[in-house]
Amino acid sequence: MNPNKTMSTTIRAWLLVVCCCLPVAGCQQQGPLADSQYGRQPTRQDLADVVRPKNQTVDVLIAYDSMTGNTERMAQAVAQGARRVPGAVPLLKKVSEVTKEDLEAADAIVLGCPTYYANIPGRMKIVIDDWSWKMKVDFTDKAGGAFATGGGQMGGKEHVVISLLLFMINNRMIVAGPLYQDEEGDDLWAETGAGAMTGPIDMGIGVKELDSATRLGERIAHLAVKLKE
Ligand SMILES: Cc1cc2nc3c(=O)[nH]c(=O)nc-3n(C[C@H](O)[C@H](O)[C@H](O)COP(=O)(O)O)c2cc1C
Repeated sequence: MNPNKTMSTTIRAWLLVVCCCLPVAGCQQQGPLADSQYGRQPTRQDLADVVRPKNQTVDVLIAYDSMTGNTERMAQAVAQGARRVPGAVPLLKKVSEVTKEDLEAADAIVLGCPTYYANIPGRMKIVIDDWSWKMKVDFTDKAGGAFATGGGQMGGKEHVVISLLLFMINNRMIVAGPLYQDEEGDDLWAETGAGAMTGPIDMGIGVKELDSATRLGERIAHLAVKLKE
């Protein structure tokens, strides 16, 4: 056997192995734990990425109208509730500042406003109608919920909440309200939305009213996670 020929065959075989393995090694470098193969311990964030795939992160847009701050406080509580759900990322914005990109990126939208003459304030109605009518946002299968404040006890808050939900249903969204459970855990129920009475009979926003907003945020974020699974 020619020793030179054997030598060149061996070198060629090695080159073939090296060329085939290089791309595979390159592939292994991708993914959240890749660096750990090269001596780095995985960080908490690496592990979180592994446990929770990217598609389970949900964006919850909380869009509100507020002249004197009551509805804004409720909106903040909605965001707090959404944060209770792992993977939910709330974005709090005045309704007039919401962009088409915000709406399209949202997996869930929670709308809130004051009650004016037992209805949605005209300025807010114009904005949300334009989202659909002029901006042509596709709301299909986004999760939705609503909240309202009103000075009166029976001044139309619930009508406002239902009107906001009707807007969502009409735009092909899937809507829900906050969940409650009695102390024994026997009874479980939902309400239409969250609300607060802010007028002279019961000024400001009470703890239970804030709690209704927190529950709403949590419920809608949960629903968005389920819809994205
Ligand atoms: C023009 C106007 C009309 C209102 N109409 C009603 C009403 O019909 N029913 C009610 O309960 N409150 C009514 N209110 C009270 C507001 O809904 C209430 O103060 C609300 O909490 C204000 O929210 P904001 O602080 O976020 O602006 C009205 C207030 C204004 C300024």
